[in-house]
Amino acid sequence: MTEMLRAPAEVKYAEELDWLESIDDGPKPFSWRLSPRMVRLFVLGSERADGLDREISPKWFGDRSFVERSIVTLASDRGLLLIGDPGTGKSWLAELLAAAISRNSTLVVQGTAGTTEDHIKYSWNVSMVIAKGQSRASMIPSPIMTAMEKGVIGRFEELTRSTSDVQDALISILSEKYVSIPELDDDNIVFAQPGFSIIATANSRDRGVNDLSSALKRRFNFVRIPVVTNKKSEAEIVRFRTTELLRRHEIELDVPPNLLDILLQSFADLRAAAASATSDDEKLESALSTAEQIGVLEDAILHSTFFGDRSLRAETLAGSLVGSLARRSPEDLAILNKYWHGVVEPRSKEDGGEWPAFLEGGRQAIATLS
Ligand SMILES: Nc1ncnc2c1ncn2[C@@H]1O[C@H](COP(=O)(O)OP(=O)(O)OP(=O)(O)O)[C@@H](O)[C@H]1O
Ligand SMILES: [Mg+2]
Repeated sequence: MTEMLRAPAEVKYAEELDWLESIDDGPKPFSWRLSPRMVRLFVLGSERADGLDREISPKWFGDRSFVERSIVTLASDRGLLLIGDPGTGKSWLAELLAAAISRNSTLVVQGTAGTTEDHIKYSWNVSMVIAKGQSRASMIPSPIMTAMEKGVIGRFEELTRSTSDVQDALISILSEKYVSIPELDDDNIVFAQPGFSIIATANSRDRGVNDLSSALKRRFNFVRIPVVTNKKSEAEIVRFRTTELLRRHEIELDVPPNLLDILLQSFADLRAAAASATSDDEKLESALSTAEQIGVLEDAILHSTFFGDRSLRAETLAGSLVGSLARRSPEDLAILNKYWHGVVEPRSKEDGGEWPAFLEGGRQAIATLS
């Protein structure tokens, strides 16, 4: 296997997937590579009660009911729409499900304002059309069409950012389950093979979900993924991602548990403040998602590795936190400043530990940016 900056889940976890497939004797819908129970096990990890000979690592952290509902949807006639705030792990869950069910998570269309019908149907290889005319050979199927032909899962990221034309084309794909190619005289219909379905994601901050046509809404089951607010699961996610990051960069560095606590605590505090804010100016622009926490920690780790003495310090963590969250000046900086004075300062007096260093690092970062 050649190296990749980021391998898709079916490559990264190929060995686990092979093993699960080898012991899987459950009934499988359509052409699924794993039974629904095994898909769940792959995503959420194994427990002792599963009685397996080996441990399967958890990969997506969250309530099992979301995962179960997603799996059931994919075995049904409808597509799956994962909705949630930025960084809640929607894309990651979509990738894991496609990897477990189809062993292919890379048939992805990215929804933008510029996405056209061609991106979800097909386009033409112009030089081949000129040389040999239009035929199936000169047609370039989109990832969604390829998924239909193969009977696997196609993904549509950021569905709500695409135009209504594209959404309409998707309705016909999801209801008729075929795409016709009017340019061709024969062999001009591509039928979806059993097992084909779509996992779409939508960001609830885009406010586009309500604007989806009711016809499209009916063809999807919605699964809403909340921001993780449970500190224990959040710590698990952050630790899981950080371990991976350290391995990828071949960095030897321990993340002191008390610094991880400080990071989790400050995000919890800032979220509470955002929840009680009365206007958008009093709210950080950031959604304060778990992904953002991972970003802050990643930043601090890289900083310590490149410019520090290879141990993670509270000052560096505070600097990364302020640097990542202060996007709008002066609004975000004012909010962070208020937090540092009102919460970090008293905490540093009461709790001691790494808090005083965190206080100092944050103060400096805020002063630099102001
Ligand atoms: N519940 C979770 N379990 C495991 N990893 C998570 C979870 N939530 C977030 N992450 C990690 O956070 C990062 C961002 O997640 P992801 O890209 O899936 O978010 P998203 O919901 O698609 O966000 P966006 O709306 O911005 O596209 C990923 O590296 C992912 O692994
Ligand atoms: Mg995403």
